[in-house]
Amino acid sequence: MKVEDIKNIAVIGTGIMGHGIAQVCAQAGYKTSITRRRVELIQESIDKIKSNLQMLVEKEVITKDEADNALSRIHGRKNIAEAVSDADFVIESVVEDMDVKKSIFREFDKSSPKHAILTTNTSSFSITEIASVTERQDKVAGMHWWNPPYLMPLVEIVKGEKTSDETTNVIKNLVTKLGKVPATCKDSPGFIGVRLQSALVNDAISILEEGLASAEDIDTAVKMTLGFRTPILGPLETVDLGGMDTFFYAYDYLYKKLGEKYKPPDLLRNKAKAGELGIKTGKGFYDYTGKSIESIIKNRDEWLMEQSKKLKEKMAAQKNK
Ligand SMILES: NC(=O)c1ccc[n+]([C@@H]2O[C@H](COP(=O)([O-])OP(=O)(O)OC[C@H]3O[C@@H](n4cnc5c(N)ncnc54)[C@H](O)[C@@H]3O)[C@@H](O)[C@H]2O)c1
Repeated sequence: MKVEDIKNIAVIGTGIMGHGIAQVCAQAGYKTSITRRRVELIQESIDKIKSNLQMLVEKEVITKDEADNALSRIHGRKNIAEAVSDADFVIESVVEDMDVKKSIFREFDKSSPKHAILTTNTSSFSITEIASVTERQDKVAGMHWWNPPYLMPLVEIVKGEKTSDETTNVIKNLVTKLGKVPATCKDSPGFIGVRLQSALVNDAISILEEGLASAEDIDTAVKMTLGFRTPILGPLETVDLGGMDTFFYAYDYLYKKLGEKYKPPDLLRNKAKAGELGIKTGKGFYDYTGKSIESIIKNRDEWLMEQSKKLKEKMAAQKNK
């Protein structure tokens, strides 16, 4: 199957996530079938999409015609069987309950065309386990969206043990066609984003619980540092630019003082010892051979300058309110 073969998408579940996912599919030109458990309320879900689209029109992100066309591609269906009956691609976004998800995947397998790819928006469950109830485990994958789906750029693609490369590639291409950015991960608890976020959130709560800083100061510290820089630098790029050795010394100290939870991964220790320090030595998590370090730093700094300017303007506008 190729991404061009996808014409009809079915989104099952229209809660916080599902209605926004359906909106993205319809905006990208796909005929999108939706259904929900309390199907008598399906118009409410369509109205939520309509209101999101109206906001995008008001903010001049899309035109009124584009909004109307997207809405005309959304079709409420009376049940799952009907919604997936002509689907080339299915996105499940119902309650985070393994038994419910398994029973819905059995239904997908029975009622959707044999070529259809089946995906789940689970935030935590094993894709391999969900896929196991179907006769097409090679065509089942995780597709983890972020809230609100119509505004957040990333969709994680999670490969179950039996998900084929062909399926992964089709999903990757579809994510791009939907105007989103894909990141692929093997099946594991929390995938990439949720696992990273849990490290940050758990420690923020621990700092608060230990009475070390106020909630406001913790949130400010994150927004003005990690949050501020993260859009241009991921954590591994941050280490490469800051120095593998420097991060290792700092994290090793935390480990000695705060305990096992903070033990630096072997990969960090080994790279620091091997002199793979990042831009300082031309190799870290990335290889900088043939790349201009100066332009990497210039690019980062120009981006941060622009962000600082925007932030100052926003803060000044808020003061004047
Ligand atoms: N909320 C988030 O920030 C977020 C982010 C990423 C992924 N997710 C995942 O998306 C999925 C949906 O989450 P949500 O936040 O939209 O939840 P929600 O509670 O807003 O919506 C859940 C949907 O599931 C349906 N549902 C509930 N019980 C059902 C049942 N027994 N059979 C069939 N349908 C049933 C509801 O009608 C509703 O449409 C979950 O797997 C969740 O982990 C959520």
